[in-house]
Amino acid sequence: MSPKTIIEPFKIKMVEPIRMSTEEERLEYLELANFNPFLLNSDNVIIDLLTDSGTSAMSAKQWSKLMEGDESYAGSHSWMRMEREIKELTGYPFILPTHQGRAAERILYGHVGGAEKVFLSNTHFDTTRANIEFTGGKAIDIPIPENHEPDNLHPFKGNLDISKLEASIKEYAAENIGAVILTVTNNSGGGQPVSMDNARQVATICKEHGILFILDACRIAENSYFIRHREDGYGRTAYWQIAREMFRLADGAIMSAKKDGLVNMGGFLALKDEKLAEACSNLLIITEGFATYGGLTGRDMEAIAQGLQEVFDADYLRYRIKSTQYLGDRLHEIGVPLIRPIGGHAVYIDAKKLYPQIPMEHYPGQALVVELYKKGGIRAVEIGSVMFGKYDIKNQLIPAPMELVRLAIPRRVYTQSHADYIIEVFQDILADRENVSGYRITKEPEFLRHFSAWFEPV
Ligand code: F0G
Repeated sequence: MSPKTIIEPFKIKMVEPIRMSTEEERLEYLELANFNPFLLNSDNVIIDLLTDSGTSAMSAKQWSKLMEGDESYAGSHSWMRMEREIKELTGYPFILPTHQGRAAERILYGHVGGAEKVFLSNTHFDTTRANIEFTGGKAIDIPIPENHEPDNLHPFKGNLDISKLEASIKEYAAENIGAVILTVTNNSGGGQPVSMDNARQVATICKEHGILFILDACRIAENSYFIRHREDGYGRTAYWQIAREMFRLADGAIMSAKKDGLVNMGGFLALKDEKLAEACSNLLIITEGFATYGGLTGRDMEAIAQGLQEVFDADYLRYRIKSTQYLGDRLHEIGVPLIRPIGGHAVYIDAKKLYPQIPMEHYPGQALVVELYKKGGIRAVEIGSVMFGKYDIKNQLIPAPMELVRLAIPRRVYTQSHADYIIEVFQDILADRENVSGYRITKEPEFLRHFSAWFEPV
């Protein structure tokens, strides 16, 4: 028999209670949070799809490894284990531990960035962009055009546009380009994968022009799944080998281990070049910690070393990708407009299509995250003009290219019945779609405003 149901390939040893709430209570919580789900108290959330980052359930083996954590300031065996694991996976000789991905970004882009430097990426994640812009640099997204077409079933919609890369190198000149960054999978661009062929072309062009090529590898195991099942020539290659091949193409990588490291905290910067590694190491010691722990405890490093093995397990990856697809496919069937194909770690709803009556200045994505919480206690994140919108000189909103809402799926945390509940809540949202209006921002910070902005209903 070959069963159709993809069961969770784990048993549950420990549980965390979910407190149920009523719609009336949730309306009150929303007002207290100024209609920004980031400002909600997580005890009042039923299903938390805000992020897949740092929200994984660790395995029994990872928890047992915590006890082996060596908390020595220098040269701890936990560091050596983590370093060995990452060296084997990436093939890079220089590994710098950091407390999470953005710390590695700050160190690397703080060093290679600066005014007049241009960075090119399939799509910069928001912290990547912020760290580059903070140095005065310019971050330019050049995904393939299919990336902006929600219904285009291109198998590698996360790819970088090679002709735009070549044109940008001509326009800005190679010496002004800080780095080309390939984000795998392409988070802000729909959680879509990048093909090996695309990475290979980027590598060739970067080499030709002497440009630094960096992988943002936080979901590289999930990306490897898509390569194996969608790209010619990889059907029999192990996921770990696929990831390794991609790392070998680049000059370095930043990884937030909070995603495919299957841990709640941690990250690293891995580099081929000794000089660059030395410069980054200096910054690491000044701001994160000594070179053999960065911002991490020994036990964190044990859990990362273990997580980086578990994430490439074939049963795990199959369940991971198929369970995300299950949610996405059902939502598509009931008529929720969304990005297809379904990405690896999340389902991205097209809020502009769901609520055509709401103008961009009133943030249709924000309206949907509020509705999801109100109706179902589900917390999600807007990835649209709240996150990426800018103002022109007249203070008019320049909207983001898409108004999306991301349902990010924590790893090994929720089961199929949770997914079925989410689908039911969406049925309710569809039935009520014409009665929803938007929000305006009443207070916002200069950088990464989506985290802390306040809103009010229009
Ligand atoms: N790069 C990508 C592609 C990411 O998705 C993230 C984080 C980072 C870098 C930064 O890593 O959080 O460890 O500092 N993404 C989270 C998310 C926050 O919800 O997608 P970090």
